[in-house]
Amino acid sequence: MKKFLFVLLLFSATVSAQQALLHSPTGKLELTVSLDQAGILRYQLLQDGATVIAPSVLGVQFKDAEASFDRGMVWQAADTTVWSEMWEPVLGEESTIYNDYHLLTVKLSQPATGGQIMEVQFRLYDAGLGFRYYWPAQDKLNHFVIADERTQFSFNENPTAWWIPGDYDTNEYFYVKSTLGEVKASRSKAFTEIGTRHTWSEMGVQTPLQLKTAAGRYINIHEAALTNYPVMQLEITDGGYSAKAHLVPNIFGDKAYLQAPCQSPWRAINVGSKATDILASRMILNLNEPSKIKDPSFIKTTKYVGIWWEMHAGISTWDYAGTQDGSYDINNRKPSGKHGATTERTKVYIDFAAKHGLDAVLIEGWNTGWEDWFGKWKEDVFDFVTPYPDFDVPGLSAYAKSKGVKLIMHHETSGSVTNYERWMDTAYRFMKKYGYPAVKTGYVGKIIPRGEYHDGQWMTRHFNRVAEKTAAYGLMVNMHESHRPTGLNRTWPNWIASEAARGNEFNAWSSGNPPEHETILPFTRLMGGAMDYTPGIFEIKMSTYKPGATEQVHTTLAKQLALYVTMYSPLQMAADLPENYNKHLDAFQFIKDVALDWDETYYLEAEPGDYLTIARKAKGINEWFVGAITDENSRTATIDLSFLPAGKTYTLMLYRDAVDAHWEKNPMAYTIEKTQVNSGDKITVALAAGGGAAISIK
Ligand code: NOJ
Ligand code: CA
Repeated sequence: MKKFLFVLLLFSATVSAQQALLHSPTGKLELTVSLDQAGILRYQLLQDGATVIAPSVLGVQFKDAEASFDRGMVWQAADTTVWSEMWEPVLGEESTIYNDYHLLTVKLSQPATGGQIMEVQFRLYDAGLGFRYYWPAQDKLNHFVIADERTQFSFNENPTAWWIPGDYDTNEYFYVKSTLGEVKASRSKAFTEIGTRHTWSEMGVQTPLQLKTAAGRYINIHEAALTNYPVMQLEITDGGYSAKAHLVPNIFGDKAYLQAPCQSPWRAINVGSKATDILASRMILNLNEPSKIKDPSFIKTTKYVGIWWEMHAGISTWDYAGTQDGSYDINNRKPSGKHGATTERTKVYIDFAAKHGLDAVLIEGWNTGWEDWFGKWKEDVFDFVTPYPDFDVPGLSAYAKSKGVKLIMHHETSGSVTNYERWMDTAYRFMKKYGYPAVKTGYVGKIIPRGEYHDGQWMTRHFNRVAEKTAAYGLMVNMHESHRPTGLNRTWPNWIASEAARGNEFNAWSSGNPPEHETILPFTRLMGGAMDYTPGIFEIKMSTYKPGATEQVHTTLAKQLALYVTMYSPLQMAADLPENYNKHLDAFQFIKDVALDWDETYYLEAEPGDYLTIARKAKGINEWFVGAITDENSRTATIDLSFLPAGKTYTLMLYRDAVDAHWEKNPMAYTIEKTQVNSGDKITVALAAGGGAAISIK
């Protein structure tokens, strides 16, 4: 056993032989890390003296190794440092972010393998705790394979949770609210129609996982800086009193292939005494590396329309031949007459964007391959450069340019990632040639290379490669189906948004998203970064297009407007058809006006699953926007305008549900009111069942 190490610190950290104690910058959180007689490492986290995380195991198990870093470890040293910085995101929910934490590094050795070394680094913020495993360069450890991560999150109780089932391939589930102990019994509530699915345990859940204790404390578990490791999901144990890390494997059961020096992602525990504390935390961004993009001038907020909803609503098709089943003659592809991405139709969207000052038009189904793109686990589907005969790439690119509108590229990989890797450079050069500044990617279907899952280490590395490569070409990227973000938009701000949850599209062709869905997403999916949720559907019932259809967006029209504020993203779609917006140009004005980049954000009120009200100040200008949403229950939102600078009068435009609005019975009834306000005012707004309100203030 090594000599005891005593470090006396100026900032309330104490380290003794087998134990270290650390406080967050204002002392709100307290962390204890200790090694027991069996050489097992544990941590414990308190907020204002109350337990957040009860003593919980830390450790990692290697494959085919004499011993691992999970027991029999020896405490070598512990070090502490103070960190304080301010940084400015390229685009964000606020223009200045404070990154203040106390760092504790515990160095451990494993005598059974001749003294291999691992460090556990803990960053303690007032908002929460981040920690990760780090393997420095060393003689005794070079290549290794992770078989299991022992990391545990234990509680003194069986907390309430908002969760989706653990799945190696998708996050497109309903959120279920239950105690952790009831996950198995409540599981069927999360299952709806989705394609590729690979659940792994009846006790498995995904992160970000939002928890609430009986005393009303909010705890959120996620990860940060996922660059070379599988996604962490969680297995609930001990009747809901504990959760253990479960890493997404490949088909061999291996979790991660690593070579020292290297590290795991950060395990991130946000803690709040109010629900809004969780939303206001910037810890996950702070745990990521600073931007690697030297000149970010190509990264811009983007408000776009697109040839998209019309396919989801069944009006037009992605494919030219209209079979979608491969039953066409490749040399004699006959147009079905329903193809969406035609030159003429694209011009309608370009004209609409130009007329209303929107930035861009997304076109899906422009390239060959859609007749046979799905469900065959086929390797060569798309080449990302060959348009259908009715889509004029050079002509449209010139037309868009003449109108001051950008075109957004679409790359559906259909899960054939080896194929996409082969085409990436060619495809990005094609985009540069025709002036496309951004690409939406997609990964529908089972992954190729076969044996990999969407959330494994191989795919993590692919998504990071796409971010890096698009950055090198000066392109923005919006990844669909990809695994959920972990704050990497700090490092790659061109990774402007992702999907990675049930988006608005599910409302077009499935049982949809329940009205509470958008009150939960900010506490779960959005904790890691922006979501391309595609709000703004005005024509709410699908029976408009398909007589007798029962599908509908589970919303009111006013709530669709509120989502532009409550669902943070610097990339926002106005997802409905130009024809539908033309019928409601007064309401469309809010979509035209709303900002996508912010100086300040004010989280006014929130409860996951019930309601959410957020106010934001636009970056660099004196304009404020507020979004208030509710679940299936009507409610009165109270909006305290004290975020406005005092001593001035402002013009407020309120877009709200009409008195008789109701998400099922009367979803499209709204009213617009104009009033004068000042910072001393508090306004109350009635939200319909499934409804919302949007406000702009100048
Ligand atoms: C699923 C994506 O989420 C959706 O936006 C897209 O239209 C389809 N895949 C086709 O790529
Ligand atoms: Ca609710």
